[in-house]
Amino acid sequence: MTWKWSAENDPRNGQVGNIRGYRVNDNRDSGIAVIGSGYVGTVVAACMAAIGHDVIGVEINQEKLAKLQSGSSYFFEPGLDERLRAGIEAGRLTFTDDFDEAMGKSNVVFLCVDTPPGPNGHPDVTSVTAAAKSIGKAMHSPHVIVTKSTVPVGSGNWLTSTIEAVLPDVVEPDVFSVVSNPEFLREGSAVNDFLHPERIVLGGDNADAVRTVASTYGPILDQTFPGGAPDRRPALVTTDRSTAETIKYAANAFLATKISFINEIAEICEWVDADVDEVAHAIGLDSRISSKFLQAGVGWGGSCFGKDVEALAATARAHGQEPLILEAAQQVNLHQRRRLVRKLQQHLRPLRGSRVALLGLAFKPNTDDTRDAPAITVARELLEKGAIVRAYDPLVKQIPELPNLQTATDAYSLVDRADAVVLLTEWDELRDLDFDDVAARMRGDLIVDGRNAFDAKRVREAGLVYEGMGRGLLPRNGRSATW
Ligand code: UDX
Repeated sequence: MTWKWSAENDPRNGQVGNIRGYRVNDNRDSGIAVIGSGYVGTVVAACMAAIGHDVIGVEINQEKLAKLQSGSSYFFEPGLDERLRAGIEAGRLTFTDDFDEAMGKSNVVFLCVDTPPGPNGHPDVTSVTAAAKSIGKAMHSPHVIVTKSTVPVGSGNWLTSTIEAVLPDVVEPDVFSVVSNPEFLREGSAVNDFLHPERIVLGGDNADAVRTVASTYGPILDQTFPGGAPDRRPALVTTDRSTAETIKYAANAFLATKISFINEIAEICEWVDADVDEVAHAIGLDSRISSKFLQAGVGWGGSCFGKDVEALAATARAHGQEPLILEAAQQVNLHQRRRLVRKLQQHLRPLRGSRVALLGLAFKPNTDDTRDAPAITVARELLEKGAIVRAYDPLVKQIPELPNLQTATDAYSLVDRADAVVLLTEWDELRDLDFDDVAARMRGDLIVDGRNAFDAKRVREAGLVYEGMGRGLLPRNGRSATW
């Protein structure tokens, strides 16, 4: 069932929730525990406190715990530290490593531990299992367990059994219920995405438990928190657990496929001398297509797309299905990284001994995250092929797995004596380079724009050779006809 949030169907208008005989209080006045304080957990904890809940975050790593308790995250996420500090100062947000304390102070538990890629494409659920056992052992009162960790489809049932198996003897097995609540947060805008989502998905077989979680999200659903946007209320989608879990995978797989699609079109554009950016703009004007996630370039990276596409493909294979589209999306994405290296090989002959300057290392702007970043693959391949590679990123200062990769302190010193400059992350400060200065500093003249973010005309006017991804073979200055 899907419905728009409105006063009439607000679950909070009904009587308080009830989990199989156990009364659950209206959660606006109750406690939330957040298990795992990574990207997702810290955002959930800080934002739930910001909308008025009492929140206790659990983190077992002592170093991370100490940082969070002092009001700062141990990773970069715009707007997060301010909210952490505000929550702590208001007395609504605390962090602990003690599950008993967290369970004692809460009746809604958000499970936000990480699920890194595991063997055979399935996510590794070691942390989820450990957290589930700790939750079960410390459960002495009714709880709704909300899974935000991205777990394989069907994990809700497995999680229920895992918790049930370790419950204290005096507690009935129906003391808790599991609700799937996939997250759609983007790094770099996670706080805003959490507070102003387009939809909230809740999947569970116990209507009262689902209602309890919906009421926890109440201020977000009706956008009544300070800074809320009442004219842009999110949709609330309630469904069963497996469907909710599948929605998460399908959403990420669709977005990744959309990017791979436009990247395949980009390659065709190069052969027929068309401009992929103009193609993307024009097809995106059709609302059935939409222009979002049609930015061609070196392809997608990050902690989610690769892992989730692979996990969904693994699920398909486990059921004897051939995930043709998902596999194609992955292949095209890998192909993009190779294609970019190939462009350098074509221009810099030989590549061995050439100086290549990489602009950007993070998998996208406004984050210091380099997980599955295209820049890492490109840098590794170039180093293997004997190029001399240096990089500059506003936030990422070193790549532990690439010790031979030298880094520069700014974009201009990076390009000194370079044969080629390659844009891999479209940070604002990198989009607007002074290309006359760049040209004067370079030894060669090649600019490879792996994100189609530079103004090709300005690059060419500085006497440099411009290579984009799918922007045709000819200079594009004034190409479009004017009427
Ligand atoms: C993604 C999903 O967007 C989010 O809903 C989910 O919860 C987690 O995964 P994130 O990984 O933070 O979020 O980044 P996103 O902004 O989606 O970008 C992913 C990758 O795709 C980046 O490498 C980005 O550069 C690339 N991308 C994005 C493109 O190449 N072209 C586009 O048009 C859009």
